Amino acid sequence: MARRSLQFVCQSCGAVTGKWTGRCESCGEWNTIVEEQTGGGVGGGPGKAPRSKGRVVPLVGLSGETQEAPRIQSKMAELDRVTGGGFVRGSALLVGGDPGIGKSTLLIQAAAALANLGYPTVYISGEEAVGQVRLRAERLGLSGAPVALAAETSVEDILATLETGPPPALLILDSIQTLWTDQVDSPPGTVTQVRASAQAMVRYAKKNGTTLVLVGHVTKDGQIAGPRVVEHMVDAVLYFEGDGAHQYRILRSVKNRFGATDEIGVFEMTGRGLEEVANPSALFLGDRTTNAPGSAVFAGLEGSRPLLIEIQALVAQSSLGTPRRAVIGWDSARLSMILAVLEARCGVRFSQHDVYLNVAGGLKINEPGADLAVAAALVSSLSGLALPANCVYFGEISLSGAIRPVAQAPARLKEARKLGFEQAFCPLGNLKDRSATELSAIGLPELGDFIAKLSARAGASAQD
Ligand code: TYD
Ligand code: MG
Repeated sequence: MARRSLQFVCQSCGAVTGKWTGRCESCGEWNTIVEEQTGGGVGGGPGKAPRSKGRVVPLVGLSGETQEAPRIQSKMAELDRVTGGGFVRGSALLVGGDPGIGKSTLLIQAAAALANLGYPTVYISGEEAVGQVRLRAERLGLSGAPVALAAETSVEDILATLETGPPPALLILDSIQTLWTDQVDSPPGTVTQVRASAQAMVRYAKKNGTTLVLVGHVTKDGQIAGPRVVEHMVDAVLYFEGDGAHQYRILRSVKNRFGATDEIGVFEMTGRGLEEVANPSALFLGDRTTNAPGSAVFAGLEGSRPLLIEIQALVAQSSLGTPRRAVIGWDSARLSMILAVLEARCGVRFSQHDVYLNVAGGLKINEPGADLAVAAALVSSLSGLALPANCVYFGEISLSGAIRPVAQAPARLKEARKLGFEQAFCPLGNLKDRSATELSAIGLPELGDFIAKLSARAGASAQD
C-alpha cells in the first residue's frame, strides 16, 4: 500500500526537505518551512499507483511550419508594449505586485477592453465578491463590457464551468494564492496548493489556446506562498510597481518568452482607474526646479524606451564620524563607487560630507548609464552651483575614471531634444551616433575632463 508521507516545504522558494528546520537551506529564509502531506498527484509529484501504458506522441524536427504566435491586443498601448505587442494565445502570464498597488484594477480594465473588442473574456475573482467587482467596474465606467464574471476559488469548479462553453480568449484569475484544488491536501495559499492549482490552469490554457493571467501577491514575510514557484511555469512575468506616495504605477516585464524583458508601461492611478501615461519623461520631470544645485537630468533607457529622469543629490557638511550615505531609487554600492572615483581620480572630496541621493518620482534605476548624471548632481550640490537647466547627462563611469559608452545613445538624445533640452554630456565613444539629432553633444573621455568642463562653466556663469 502506498504510504502517505510527510514532507516539509519552504513557503518562500518551494524547496522540499525531509525534516523541519528553522531556516530554509535553499533560499536562506527563516521560518518558512511548513509540514505538508504528499499523497502523490499533482503537487507531490507522480503518484505511486501503477500507471496505464503511455500514449505515443509524434516526434518532429526543429524546422517546419509553425504558426506565428497570434496575439490579442488590448489597445491599451502601455499594456501591449509590456507584453511585447499583445497577449499571446495559449500563454500564461503572472502579474505580481504588492497588495493594493492596482493589479485588480489593471486587469478589470484589460478584461473590459478585450471584451469590448469582441474577445470572450472571463474574470474569476477569488478575493472579492461579485458585488465588489461590479461596483469597481461601475465606478470605472466599464459595466457595459461583456466580461463573464465569477467569484470562485476551487480549480475543479472553475474548470468545470469553463468546460461548459467554448474556451475564452482571455482568462483572469485573481489571485493565484486563493485558488485550491482537491487533488492535494495542503491548505490554500501553501506552495503545494499554489503550484498544483497553477499547473492545472496553465494546462487548460495551453490546451485551449486561452491566454491565462494569474495575479500573485508578493509578500515579504513568507506567510503566503510566494509566486516564485509559479514564475517557472508561466511564459511571462510582469511586476506592477509604484509607491504609495506617488500616483503612477510601472508595469515591468521581468520574464517574457514572447518579447523583450525590461520593457515598462507607465500608468497613473486616478479616480477613474489607471490611465496610460504616453509621455512618461514629461511626468517624471514635471515639477523640477531648474535653478537648484544638485539636480541633474539623466537621459535613461527603460527597455526600448528612452526616459528622462531627474537625479537629485544633497551634499551637506557632516557632524558624524562616519558620514551618512542614503540612496533612494539607485544602488548604494554604485554611489559609493562614484564617490570613490570622484575622490581618487578627480580630487573631489566627500569624506566630511553626508551624501543623499534621490531619483525623483520614486522610480528605480538599474542602469550604470546613470553614473555621469549622478556625478554631475553630486558635484553640483557640493559646489552649490546649479547645473544648466537645458542639459542632460548619460554615461557609465569605470573605476579608472574613464567614461564608457552606453547603448542607444541616439534614442536618448532624441528624447531629450523632444522635451526641449539643448545640450548633452555623453561618453566620447557615443559621439559618432549623434548625427540623427540636432542636439549639441559634448563627448567626454573621462571624469576629470567632465569636472573641468563643469567648473569652467560655473566660472563663466559667475562672471556674467
Ligand atoms: P487594487 O486594484 O484593488 O489593488 P490590488 O488588486 O493590487 O490589491 O487597487 C486598490 C487601490 O487602488 C486602492 O488603494 C484604491 C486605488 N484606486 C484608485 O485610486 N482609483 C480607482 O479608480 C480604483 C479602482 C482604485
Ligand atoms: Mg486585488
